[in-house]
Parts: sequence; C-alpha cells; structure tokens
Amino acid sequence: MSFFRRSVLSGCLSVVFLSSTAHAGDLMNWGKKIAEEGNGSPGSIACMECHRLNGGGMPSIGSPRIAGQTAFYIEHEILGVQKGTRYAPVMAGVVYNLSKNDIRAVALYYASVRTPKLPDVSPPDPALVALGKHIAQKGLWKKNVPACVLCHGPNGRGIPPHFPYIEGQNKGYLLRQLISFAFLKRKDDPQGLMRGIARHLTQRERKAVAEYFASLNPPATAGRGK
Ligand code: HEC
Ligand code: HEC
Repeated sequence: MSFFRRSVLSGCLSVVFLSSTAHAGDLMNWGKKIAEEGNGSPGSIACMECHRLNGGGMPSIGSPRIAGQTAFYIEHEILGVQKGTRYAPVMAGVVYNLSKNDIRAVALYYASVRTPKLPDVSPPDPALVALGKHIAQKGLWKKNVPACVLCHGPNGRGIPPHFPYIEGQNKGYLLRQLISFAFLKRKDDPQGLMRGIARHLTQRERKAVAEYFASLNPPATAGRGK
C-alpha cells in the first residue's frame, strides 16, 4: 500500500473513531442527566431519587443497586418494564416515556458507575445465611433447583451480559424478585428459567438465598463487558 493510501485510510479511521467516541461520551452525559433530572417530559423522575446518582439503590425501600450491572441487562429490564413483561410497580410510571436512546444512555451511565455496599435494613440472620449458602452453591437437586452460582457466577457476581450480579444486592429487593418470579408476575427471564427455580423454593428457602446474597459484598468488577 502506498504511503498516500495508508495515510488517507488511517485519517479516515481516526475520524470514524473520534466521532464514535465523541458520540458515546455525549450519550453517557445524557444518561447522567436523566439520572439527575429525568428526561424533561411529564412523569419522568430523576433515577437518583431511588437509585442514587452512584447507583447504590435504597435498601430501606427495596430499591435495587444497579451500579455496574451491564448496560445490556439494564436496557433489557427497562424495555421489559415498558412492555409489561417485567413486573415493576414502582418503576413503571417512571420509565414509560423514555425513548430507546434515553434508555441506552442511562444504561451506559449506570453500567459505568461503581459504589460500595450500603447498610442493609437488618444484620444477616446466620441460620438463614447458612441455608442460603448451601442452596446457592449446591442447589436442591431433589427439587430440581440448580445451584444459583451456575448462572449467576461464583458468589453471584454475575456473568455478563445476560446474568445479573446478585452478590451484595439488598435483601428486601432480592426477596421481592424471587416472590415475583414464583408467582409469575415477573416474566422477563429467558425460557422461564428463574420462574421455575423460584417456584420450587419454599418461602423460607427464598428468604435464605436473599439473606445469603445480601450478606456478601457487591462485586468490584461488575459490568465487565457490555
Ligand atoms: C420512585 C423510585 C424509582 C425511580 C424514580 C426509578 N426507579 Fe428504578 N426501580 C425502582 C424499584 C422499587 C425497582 C424494583 C422494581 C419495582 O418494585 O418496581 C426498580 C428497578 C429498576 C431496575 C431493575 C434492576 C434489576 O436489578 O433488575 C432498573 C435497571 C432500574 N430500576 C433503572 C432505573 C432508571 C434508569 C431510572 C431513571 C430513568 C429509574 N430506575 C427510576 C425504583 C425507582
Ligand atoms: C439457569 C440459570 C439460572 C439459575 C440456575 C439461577 N438464575 Fe437467577 N436469573 C437468571 C436470569 C437469566 C436472570 C435475569 C432475568 C432477566 O433477564 O430479567 C435471573 C435473575 C435473578 C434475580 C433478579 C435479579 C435482579 O437484579 O433483578 C434474582 C434475585 C435471582 N435470579 C436469584 C437467583 C437465585 C437465588 C438462584 C438460585 C436459587 C438463581 N437465581 C438461579 C438465571 C438463573
């Protein structure tokens, strides 16, 4: 390749590269703005009211931690809330008027933030944590319940992009999700995987896994990949 052709080509490539990174930066800034103020249309409340600007959530009201979930997962959940497949009574009114671009932007933003664990509503219950750990690591094969870590990764730290981290999530939120899956309100899990699992657990077992995963620290590396 001649010098001329090579330099024209690399010039073009750097223009493409620069414009795409500028675009990603703009999108991220717009996502942060939505997190701080909403998108400006009626009913759009700032995400930070319930998830905080750093994505730590609010254990006292069972609002989930979303910092460092993958952009893919965050986007999938919000689209599910809009479609009604993801049961989310509190969120539904907040996200109905977000555009696809808004959702992508705010998902990129929350995927990029990191924050330490917040104190939960009560200290972990040791008996429930022990039972929960057993179910998480070994499953309950007699009841066809596989180990949670098979899909959610070691200690529940997530397997990007489809399997969210549940390690260090608050206990009120975790339990509510397991109940929603069990009683078939939340229907956005691929092939009904979580619905089948949650239905086979007793209420005590659901509480136990929630206590166990909530007792751990959230993954520092959450959100590797998109
Ligand atoms: C009024 C409080 C509130 C506001 C405002 C809010 N959320 Fe939520 N969010 C919740 C609650 C509570 C849940 C759990 C589902 C439910 O009960 O509705 C949730 C669930 C989620 C989930 C699913 C998390 C998971 O692990 O599956 C995502 C993602 C999310 N919210 C993102 C957002 C974004 C982005 C915004 C801003 C555009 C936002 N939320 C605004 C309260 C809120
Ligand atoms: C066969 C794979 C698989 C196994 C095993 C599994 N999960 Fe899941 N789980 C998923 C998938 C996929 C999702 C995400 C569903 C979606 O896209 O909304 C999920 C979501 C969840 C959520 C909701 C997370 C959130 O942020 O809202 C909780 C809580 C959960 N799982 C707990 C468990 C527990 C506890 C176990 C073990 C008893 C378990 N899972 C075992 C696949 C699995």
